[in-house]
Order: sequence, then C-alpha cells, then structure tokens
Amino acid sequence: MTPRFPLLKRLSALGLGSLLACSSDDETAEQGTNALQPGEPTELLPYTCAADAARASTPADAADVPSGFRDTGRTVGVAVSEAGLQDPAYAATVAAQFGQVTAENEMKWEAIEPEPGVFDFSRADAIVAFAQQNGMQVRGHTLVWHSQLAPWVDTLVGPDAVREAMTRHIQTVVAHYRDNFPGVVVAWDVVNEALNVMQGPMGGTVIYRDSIFYRELGEGFIAEAFRIANETDPNALLFYNDFGVEGSGGAKSTGTFDMVSGLVAAGVPIHGMGFQMHTGPTDQGPNAADFAANIARYAGLGLEVEVTEMDVSLCSIGDNSLGRELQRFRYNRIVSACFESPACRSVSLWGLSDPVSWLNDTGCTQGTLVLDTQPAPLAFDGSFARKAAWWGIYDALTGCSYQ
Ligand code: G3I
Repeated sequence: MTPRFPLLKRLSALGLGSLLACSSDDETAEQGTNALQPGEPTELLPYTCAADAARASTPADAADVPSGFRDTGRTVGVAVSEAGLQDPAYAATVAAQFGQVTAENEMKWEAIEPEPGVFDFSRADAIVAFAQQNGMQVRGHTLVWHSQLAPWVDTLVGPDAVREAMTRHIQTVVAHYRDNFPGVVVAWDVVNEALNVMQGPMGGTVIYRDSIFYRELGEGFIAEAFRIANETDPNALLFYNDFGVEGSGGAKSTGTFDMVSGLVAAGVPIHGMGFQMHTGPTDQGPNAADFAANIARYAGLGLEVEVTEMDVSLCSIGDNSLGRELQRFRYNRIVSACFESPACRSVSLWGLSDPVSWLNDTGCTQGTLVLDTQPAPLAFDGSFARKAAWWGIYDALTGCSYQ
C-alpha cells in the first residue's frame, strides 16, 4: 500500500488529543480563534487505503479529475432548493456531481399542502423535473413529520380527522409523483423523526415524540403511514428516517431499532432505514466501525440503509486547514462504512455548498458565545469548488477507505 496523504498527529493544543489530518492541498485561509497557528509543531504521518484499491490517480494532487460523484457508479445525493437550482452554476454542479436529489424543504407538508386539501406542487415539481431532465433519482422528503407541518394539521381534533388528513396527504403526494414523474421519486421518507429521548428526571428514556399524529392515532400512525404509501406506489422504497440513531448503542438507537424491527415483524411495508448523519469532524458519535455494525443489524432485518442528510460541522475545531482535512477523513470513513455494506443504497449530503447549509442558521455557538468560525460542513465551497471533503467522499466511492 502506498501512503497517499499526510496526516497531522499533534492535537493537544486543540484539545482533541487524537489523530487529526492535515491537508496538503487545502488552500483555504485559516480564520478564527480555532485556527491552527503558523509554526505550531506538527507530526506528519501517512495514511493509506484500507482496501488496497487499484487506483491510478492521486487525487489530492490532481485538481483536474474529470469526474463527479455520479461517475463512480455509486448513488450520491444532495439536498437542493428550488431557489438554488435557478442559479446556473449551482444547477450545473448538482447535475455534474450527483445522481440523486432531495428537496430540502419543498416537499414538506407546510410547503405542499398549506391548507386542507389545497396542494401546491410547483416548487417541488421544479426540483423533480430538474432531476428527471438530468437523469437523476429523487428521495421524497418527507410525508409525515411533526416539524414544518402545515399549522392547520395541528388544529385537528380526534383520530378520524387526523387519519383522514394523513391519508389524503400521503395518497395525493405519492400519487402525484407516481403519475407525473414515473420512476423518478424512487424512495420516500414516509415517517421522519418519530422518536425522542426524554430529558430531565426521566432522562434517557425513549418515547414517541409528541405530535398530532401520535396524540390522536397512537404509535400505530407509523405503520398506517407506511401502508398508505405502499398502497399508493408499490414500487417506491419506503424509509423511516431519523437523527442520533447512527451508532449501535444508546437509548434512541436501541429504541429505534426495536421499533423498526417491530414494523418488519408485523409485515409493515418498510424497506429501509435512513440515517441522517449530521455529525462532526472526529470519528465519534458514532465512529465508522460502530456505524458499520449498526448498518449490519438493519441489513439483518432485510432492510436497505441510506445516509440521508450528511454534513460535517467544523464548529468544534474551526474552518481551517486542519478542520477541513479532518472533515475529509470523517466523510471518507462514513461513506466507506456505508458502501462497504451491500445494503447501502445511497449517501446524500444535506446541501450543496457551505453558504447554503442549514447549519448557518445557527452558526457556531458555545453557550452564549458566538465562535469566530463557520460550520462549513459540505463538500463544495461558495464558488462550487471541491473542498478536501470532496476528495474524502470521492476516495470512498472509488474504494479508498482511509486508515
Ligand atoms: O420559507 C421561510 C421564508 O418565507 C422566511 O422568510 C424565512 C425566514 O427565516 O424562513 C423560511 O423558512 C425556513 C425554511 O427552512 C426554508 O428555508 C425556516 O425558517 C427554517 O427553519 C427552515 O429550516 C429547515 C429545517 O429543516 C426546519 O426544521 C432547513 O432549511 C432544513 O435543512 C432542515 O432539514 C431538516 C430535515 O428536513 C430533517 N432532518 C433535520 C434537517 C436539519 O434540521
């Protein structure tokens, strides 16, 4: 195996005390209080591909690799906005790089059925039409979620009213894409984020998250939603999607696996588990090996898995050369862990470029302190140039899993 990239192992000054990576090709200006200071001692180590893939290129040095993620044969997706796609450079980058898109907000209930029975598909259709024109697949996100719900749904009273609204919503939305864009919306996040971990005296206990659906229909709303979606489009892959369940341990992860196992055992038409993967630059929460172990147990249920919303916030270390190389490492390990399983259908990033990440809404804070850095969590910068993170993903897709 040939050492391919330099690693920087000298992190005590940054309070991490473990292995971090240093980019050889990252020319991003360091900024903020988290920046690695010039002259700090470093210890450079090589890192290598875990699988000794026969790769001709040394992409860290090759600024002109002519392919995008989609050319690797793996399905890599990205969350897009209808507004973003109106920017030709944004649209061109999405089309060149990705084989799948998710509407970041435009397919959510508040956007698509803002009033009872009044459906507005205009912005969502623009995204799906873009995907169709560019030979891409779409993940439908999301049918039943407590958040970004049209306000009128929360005012419904009684199980019949809620069941009727949920049924009409799922049937209308899924049928719309089944009929108007056949074969494009291949998967749906049918239910999103239905479980929660209690805080306070009962801390650690997993409960069904409070929502109008759970209050009025009980936990059975989840199975009902999957059945309605499946009856409407038997060809669509139906996913449960959540955050904080990527590792194999912990209350929420255990509770989620138990819930999904129960759905499978009951014959509910669920086909996959979506791991959101909003994460940080160190290999923890979960580490890649633990993520792989978790994937394996879902695969054991006969389900597919996807990374549905990955981003790697640099708030904890700073958007500097060290942070960006760590980010590359983290992307590489997670994307590798997913695609090393035959059950992994796709990996999606939650946004195209750093300036449009949802994480900018809160920025980098620590308590009441606003840190002098940015989350910068994605694979492209504001000019749609590939970051070090891009190479981490690309390497994973082409068989190079960093050690
Ligand atoms: O559309 C309004 C606009 O009219 C208004 O002027 C503006 C003012 O703030 O707000 C706009 O709405 C925002 C919306 O995104 C569309 O841009 C909301 O404030 C904002 O809260 C909302 O955030 C979205 C968030 O979900 C809401 O929960 C993020 O963009 C979106 O990335 C995020 O995505 C979720 C996934 O769906 C589920 N998993 C977690 C993930 C991250 O939170």
